[in-house]
Amino acid sequence: GASRLWGGRFAGGPSEALARLSLSTHFDWRLARHDIAGSRAHARVLHGSGLLTGDELEQMLAGLDQLETDVESGEFTPVLADEDVHTALERGLVERIGADLGGRLRAGRSRNDQIATLVRMYLREQARAISSELLDVVSALADQAEANGDAPMPGRTHLQHAQPVLLAHHLLAHAWPLVRDVERLRDWDRRAAVSAYGSGALAGSSLGLDPEAVAAELGFSSSAENSIDGTAARDVIAEFGFVSAMIGVDLSRFSEEIILWATREFSFVTLDDAYSTGSSIMPQKKNPDIAELARGKAGRLVGDLTGLLTTLKGLPLAYNRDLQEDKEPVFDAVDSLRLLLPAFAGMVGTLVFDRTRMAELAPEGFSLATDVAEWLVRQRVPFREAHEIAGACVRVCEERGIDLVDLTDEDFTAISPHLGPGVREVLTVRGALESRAAKGGTAPARVKDQLERLRAAVAGH
Ligand code: ARG
Repeated sequence: GASRLWGGRFAGGPSEALARLSLSTHFDWRLARHDIAGSRAHARVLHGSGLLTGDELEQMLAGLDQLETDVESGEFTPVLADEDVHTALERGLVERIGADLGGRLRAGRSRNDQIATLVRMYLREQARAISSELLDVVSALADQAEANGDAPMPGRTHLQHAQPVLLAHHLLAHAWPLVRDVERLRDWDRRAAVSAYGSGALAGSSLGLDPEAVAAELGFSSSAENSIDGTAARDVIAEFGFVSAMIGVDLSRFSEEIILWATREFSFVTLDDAYSTGSSIMPQKKNPDIAELARGKAGRLVGDLTGLLTTLKGLPLAYNRDLQEDKEPVFDAVDSLRLLLPAFAGMVGTLVFDRTRMAELAPEGFSLATDVAEWLVRQRVPFREAHEIAGACVRVCEERGIDLVDLTDEDFTAISPHLGPGVREVLTVRGALESRAAKGGTAPARVKDQLERLRAAVAGH
């Protein structure tokens, strides 16, 4: 028999084309466990308002337990006529406890308040898993920072050599955005922790059911203030989509660097065999596929968010069937991140850096020119003039094809009388690094503090 929840006013069943278009069980079936949890809570409030006897409640709960077992074992699965997860599970319940009792559960609720609630339950659970997987990436970065100690590298702006920095400082710069992403998920959860159950189709329930009791049982901190908002709003889903996209973009920026660093030209890093791939034709190849897939998935995650926002734009209140299109993008975001994050953490944890090469390149490209200018400032030369003088040093070096340290005392005085031989003290990578000793700077002592604070942030989550 048809399991449709709305047959009464229709003369015939839906066309097959409509049934196929309408179908959502191939993606909303993952909400079955939450749907059943919602049904248990709903059965209890039906009992609380006298619409189910104690006996009926017990039978209902036993039926739901049986249904859950059968869903988990794969014994019970949806069929084409089921339309969605809610319909399928009502059919399953009726098959187990009969239509007389099973048919009572739907009173006072609608698929509109159900789906809004279940998606939140599911995403809250996934957000916790994603946070923990993100923190694994952060810890892998922290371990790498620690293992690479005081090793310097060329710091870049515009992808050009700028100033030397610690490799650890650079790695930790990729960790902090991920910590903020974890914070974003936690902050998001406060808004997601509101149940829509009790909103009914849009106007609320007339049966004396307590939405707060359902909310509490399902782990929410409250229920919706407004039943229209409860069933129609998807901003919380879109916000989850944004945080997912941001995580993708953050990983993608790091990925781009790993891909560059692994090139022959950079030769900064070697990827572990277990976290890189080969070529089917070129025997010598070792490719950074995890980083590339992360970069690719970032595009996909941005697409998920864009699709979702575009679906929402211009939708009138309250529920519209368009809203069924909210789930695939956000589920895709979840699946993409859950696949990507463990591989990414493994890749980061096994990177091997060529510290010698990075140290050799750190002073190249006149990356200590700023240190010359700042040395002059400490000799009371105005920075405007100091900048000019240091620039003149670079010009002379470039003309002669030498480095700043190769300039003689005579060269220095010829460029500016302010330049004494003392300037040589700052013309080392070590000196440049150690001088950036204010909070947040790349001085080894500050990076140690930073690492400690990062570890504490990880431990605090
Ligand atoms: N499957 C729908 C969704 O995902 C929920 C059911 C609401 N359907 C309806 N015809 N009111 O949004």
